[in-house]
Amino acid sequence: MRVFRHIERANFQWLLLAFIVAVAVAVAVANNGVSRYDYSAYTEVDPSQYLIDLPSSSQKRKRAVAIHVSDSGGNRLAGASVAVQQISRDFPFGSAISKTIIGNSKYQQRWFLDRFNAAVFENELKWYATEPEPGELNYTLADELLAFVHANQIVARGHNIFWEDPAYTPAWVRSLAAGELRSAVGTRIRSLLSRYRGDFVHWDVSNEMLHFDFYERRLGPNASAEFFRTAAAADPLAAVFMNEFNVVETCDDEKSTVDLYVARLKEMIAGGAVQLEGIGLEGHFSRPNLPLMRAILDKLATLNLPIWLTEVDVSKSFDQQTQAKYLEDVLREGFSHPGIDGIMLWTALHPDGTCYQMCLTGDDLRNLPAGEVVDRLLGEWETTETGAETTDERGTYSFHGFLGEYKVAVSYDGRSTETTLALSGGDETRHLNIQL
Ligand SMILES: *[C@@H]1O[C@H](CO)[C@@H](O)[C@H](O)[C@H]1NC(C)=O
Ligand SMILES: *[C@@H]1O[C@H](CO)[C@@H](O)[C@H](O)[C@H]1NC(C)=O
Repeated sequence: MRVFRHIERANFQWLLLAFIVAVAVAVAVANNGVSRYDYSAYTEVDPSQYLIDLPSSSQKRKRAVAIHVSDSGGNRLAGASVAVQQISRDFPFGSAISKTIIGNSKYQQRWFLDRFNAAVFENELKWYATEPEPGELNYTLADELLAFVHANQIVARGHNIFWEDPAYTPAWVRSLAAGELRSAVGTRIRSLLSRYRGDFVHWDVSNEMLHFDFYERRLGPNASAEFFRTAAAADPLAAVFMNEFNVVETCDDEKSTVDLYVARLKEMIAGGAVQLEGIGLEGHFSRPNLPLMRAILDKLATLNLPIWLTEVDVSKSFDQQTQAKYLEDVLREGFSHPGIDGIMLWTALHPDGTCYQMCLTGDDLRNLPAGEVVDRLLGEWETTETGAETTDERGTYSFHGFLGEYKVAVSYDGRSTETTLALSGGDETRHLNIQL
């Protein structure tokens, strides 16, 4: 008996262990086999994972619409023909532009406008560009780029007010004594933000402050906090952003882990009433690690601040096909994640393929592999087919569309009308009543 009891206890332990393993396997399977915190390296991605109709992301990118057509007496009209056309997108998706686009209207500007609704100036707002020598302010190029984005209703990010990396701080600024530096940063921020107040949707205030600390070293530990306060007060309609590399790109950089980023964001918000209104993730990728990227976005999203991918590209150490493949994976992951509020590519066109890491096209504006990916995704992320062409027997026409503006044309029995629909985010079906 004693022996039997031992065996039973041993069996029970094995059973318990087997049960635990089975539960773990079931949970893993239920999670689609992708563990949230799987830090393994890049693996091939199943594109169906990114179907934007999945419930979590569809709430942010798409919405159900019901158009009810009736006559002037309120009687619903079955069989009315309905044509729906998306004419703009809500989701900001764009690219860096540079002075190369100025005065190139028929060619590069048209190409840009056919694709994007958002832009960032690659270098033209940086301190070294606007004040190459002390006191010699020159906003010519920034003004010309701004005229282009304004004329075409493009949303533009302001990049950047200060850059903590001394390598990109003007030499004359680096050589100032602390008192002079204090007055120079004051002049810079006042000049820039009074000139462009209301023109940009974001300001990157202290660029890359997890990696560098030029201003903190010179002006004290609260230098950036002060910059944020000043910027938020000087241009209240623009959101002030932190902007950093190697947060979402890799887990190899100990200076910019997601926990350090979260800690810094919280510190900035808590300490001294700093308004901090957005999280910038540069997204200069080498080989992307998508489960890592998702886990990091999940974590940052808990802060409930806008999150943008601000400078997405893939290293030129890869061939163009590989760059394009990695770019596609990163863009799908970003667009599918409900925490992401906008995506900017770092692909300002420069002649002879001298773009920073990646050109979308050659000089002739014909797509390179990365440009093919962008055009394909732009096509996928727009509502083109809405199914039926007429209202059903209850006079209703319904579809599930990407957020943005639509033109809706309805006709019945020789009568017709046209209206626009602004489809903004929301969990409920958007109802639109049209009377003919
Ligand atoms: C300002 O910049 C523009 C564009 O780079 C240049 O053509 C112009 O000469 C500059 N003006 C001054 C006063 O340096
Ligand atoms: C710097 O900020 C901290 C809080 O963030 C505050 O306690 C401290 O007094 C500030 N120091 C200076 C010199 O302003």
